Amino acid sequence: MSVAAEVEAKMIPVYIMGKRYEVPETLTIMKAMEYAGYQFIRGAGCRGGVCGACSTVFRKEGDYKIYSGLACQTVVEPGMHLTQLPFYPALRAVYEYASLEAEAEKIWELYPELFRCVACNACTKICPMDVEVLDYISALKRGDIAAAAEISFDCIQCGLCASRCFGEIPQYHIAQLARRIWGGKIKPKAEHLAAMVEDIDAGKYDDMISKLKSMDEEQLKKAYTEREMEPPMADESWKPSNTEGLLG
Ligand code: FES
Repeated sequence: MSVAAEVEAKMIPVYIMGKRYEVPETLTIMKAMEYAGYQFIRGAGCRGGVCGACSTVFRKEGDYKIYSGLACQTVVEPGMHLTQLPFYPALRAVYEYASLEAEAEKIWELYPELFRCVACNACTKICPMDVEVLDYISALKRGDIAAAAEISFDCIQCGLCASRCFGEIPQYHIAQLARRIWGGKIKPKAEHLAAMVEDIDAGKYDDMISKLKSMDEEQLKKAYTEREMEPPMADESWKPSNTEGLLG
């Protein structure tokens, strides 16, 4: 948002670490805190709702509940009380991925707390991505890695599910392990990816990368804006005319 637009927006009071500030009502929690002078050194990443780094808690005026959400996506309301945790802690199992067997039993061994789940569904209710967290936890208890990987696909690893779990289950870490096992050890290998890695190893793109690295800012901007782009609403069959290089 431009400074001019911010100036035009109605100002509302919020409380950050207990201190009152006036901020434009259009700002997200993250921007409101920055507007008030706070700097995000930790607990911020993409600012677009996809990296999961900015999970936050807040209270609303006249409401006893503690709410949660993504600081980069949640818009402020008058009288909100804000603070920011640098991250949401949850214990992650240590394992050697290369030698890990692709079996549900391995997940159960690494995360026995999985079986502490009592299906209260608090994890699903808090998820800002509408992931059916309880469903993938239940799938893993049944040993269904494929279902868990599929159901948890939109997880952004923010950790809010774990923050509400009174069984102290780190759901998002468990789902990540399920996706790693499913994608890396069970699903058929993607042949086009293997071919691309082979091409990279053989040095096919070395000259193009050197050319890119030698460009100045203006040349890079020109190459970027003039590159062949996928048209809006293109169907799945669309391909760039030049599939050989990085500088189409
Ligand atoms: S900063 Fe990435 S989700 Fe908010």
